[in-house]
Amino acid sequence: MTDILPSSDSVRQLVAQFDAELAQAKSTRDRQTVRDRFLGRKSGVVAAWMQMIATAPPDQKKQIGRWANELKKAIEEIWLGYQQAEAVVVGLQGIDVTLPGRAPRLGHRHPLTLVRDRLEEIFTRMGFAVVEGPEVEDEWHCFDALNMPAEHPARDMQDTLYLASPIPGDSPADHRTLLRTHTSSMQIRYMQAHAPPIRIVVPGRVYRRDDLDLTHSPAFGQIEGLAVGEGLSLADLKGTLLAFARQMFSPTVRVRFRPSFFPYTEPSAEIDLSCWQCEGAGCAMCKKTGWIEIGGCGMVHPAVFEAVGYDAERNTGFAWGIGIERIAILRYQVEDIRLFYENDLRFLEQFPY
Ligand code: DAH
Repeated sequence: MTDILPSSDSVRQLVAQFDAELAQAKSTRDRQTVRDRFLGRKSGVVAAWMQMIATAPPDQKKQIGRWANELKKAIEEIWLGYQQAEAVVVGLQGIDVTLPGRAPRLGHRHPLTLVRDRLEEIFTRMGFAVVEGPEVEDEWHCFDALNMPAEHPARDMQDTLYLASPIPGDSPADHRTLLRTHTSSMQIRYMQAHAPPIRIVVPGRVYRRDDLDLTHSPAFGQIEGLAVGEGLSLADLKGTLLAFARQMFSPTVRVRFRPSFFPYTEPSAEIDLSCWQCEGAGCAMCKKTGWIEIGGCGMVHPAVFEAVGYDAERNTGFAWGIGIERIAILRYQVEDIRLFYENDLRFLEQFPY
């Protein structure tokens, strides 16, 4: 197109062509391309004509200059008309509504929140209600009622964060108050307030006298589970945890109960899941054992039912406690628990909704 020579005919022809091409262009970008072919600083046809003025024989300079300017003016005018048409919106001039908008910076849910939401979703679908309890507890709900006698090591000052003052109007004066060491205390509160049958999960924060390191934190999340009714068995417990593990991690996961001890359950077990990454062959995630521990569980001890006034002959129940960070570490392959608390956006932004 740049070899079209200046003449009054070619001015008319090019102007008409510019107008027609713009009319046909379907987007701002297409119009921009058309514009650049005519008005582009280096290779546009107007620029080419301007350059011709300089190299033309002296007697033609004037005429070529006139045509070139005529073309430039006409084309710029048409272009301006298009720009103005694009910029008009609801009575406002000067806003180009066709420009891409500025994307708002989206926030992210915290990985621990994502895991907690997923846990709640899975257990809700299985018929468990989600309830929360107080983080400031008294010794009776946290220990005594859970069949943990005064000399139990978990009650030690070394493990537990006791508070100076009692909970106003709540706990008897002779009960020390503390930051709950586990969500199991809510088993007691819930059973005191509700008759069986019950099926609840209790997500929430718990506190221990631990220093923050790679795998420990003085505050972390747990999700407690409790089901009470007539005729519940260890098989129901295992089936519930199996259904959970398969939805959370992999449809082929298996659950293993390793005999253990908790004062509030009998029998008690540690919950192990078969390693879904190596299928038991042994890898870094399962520390070459083929199994991964995620928490504790068991059948509710009759002494616990007695503490809350339930008929221990009639009712049976199962319970578990699982660490939320533990689940997040496994699910997201995060090696350092501290990353969850440091609020480094470069870390936090990596987790999909
Ligand atoms: N409370 C225990 C802990 O914090 C976890 C636990 C074990 C909860 C067995 C339970 C259970 O409900 O039955 O380590």
